[in-house]
Amino acid sequence: METSIEQILEEALKALDDASDVESVKALSVRYLGRKGAVTLFLRSISQMPPEKRAAMGKRANDVKNTIDKALKDTLRRFETAQTDLEARIDVTLPGRPFPLGSLHPISRVTMEICDIFVRLGFDIVEGPEVESDWYNFEALNMPVGHPARGEWDTLFVDHVPPGGEPGTTVLRTHTSPVQIRTMLDSEPPIYIVAPGRVFRRDTPDSTHMPVFHQIEGLLVDEGVTFGHLKATLETFLHALFSDEVDVRLRPGYFPFTEPSAEVDISCIFCDKKGCGVCSGSGWIEILGAGMVDPRVFEAVGFDSDRYTGFAFGLGLDRVAMLVYGIPDLRQLFAGDQRLTRQFA
Ligand code: DAH
Repeated sequence: METSIEQILEEALKALDDASDVESVKALSVRYLGRKGAVTLFLRSISQMPPEKRAAMGKRANDVKNTIDKALKDTLRRFETAQTDLEARIDVTLPGRPFPLGSLHPISRVTMEICDIFVRLGFDIVEGPEVESDWYNFEALNMPVGHPARGEWDTLFVDHVPPGGEPGTTVLRTHTSPVQIRTMLDSEPPIYIVAPGRVFRRDTPDSTHMPVFHQIEGLLVDEGVTFGHLKATLETFLHALFSDEVDVRLRPGYFPFTEPSAEVDISCIFCDKKGCGVCSGSGWIEILGAGMVDPRVFEAVGFDSDRYTGFAFGLGLDRVAMLVYGIPDLRQLFAGDQRLTRQFA
């Protein structure tokens, strides 16, 4: 008999040890202390024992009952308060952990800055697809198949034939100019837009070339737009972006989609026209291409070129970021090294 109450105790404590939740503890309480529980039955059986053993056995059985009862309650409390304990362990006076803040890539910064300037001048910001059809990238921009100017853009062709398209007619856009076409097909003048984005050309990476880089395109179409408006807009823009001190110079240029066309320079921001390494001693830095929208382009999108005139321009954002932030090698803008971007937090 003695071993039996000790066995019950041992078993009960072990079972409690293994219990994993409130429910299993409650089941154990019934199994040992319930009306037909092992301890209860044992206590009842004491009356059948020899009289001289009853007192000692009764005392021991009661002790076991109390021990099991206490162990049950303790375990129950432990489960029930586990959650509150966890909360109690949180020290609300501890300083918070620093949350790492990202920083904007230099290209994003100049893009936003340039867009801001044009938004202040009343322009909208639009975007176009990076995978483009030959028609938007070349043809509608007055570069029909076989046009020599196509050769200036080392085009990356996409091995994909769009529904209804022809093989070899899908390209990664070589410039943002096709967004001009998409905008004009989508809307009516007056049009005042800038279109930033990635462009692609077959190029071997070096300090000034990458097969992917960034441009922003500008297009303004309205009645009575003149070359004077183009010049004034670009001067206002370049003064806002660099400084009122820079001089802006327009040289004759050639682009198939503008006539007349111009190459636009700013006076060197590093040497103030004295000549230095950045401007190759010339005192000037070429910054963008621009011109009056060629009537052939208006024809491609169905605009009446007797009624409307317009100007367009395009500039390389990577080059501007390198100039503004003094980044010596174009590849650094694409390396994904956070030591570069962190400087611009
Ligand atoms: N698309 C030209 C390029 O990638 C840049 C350009 C020049 C855009 C003149 C224009 C423009 O809109 O009028 O070289």
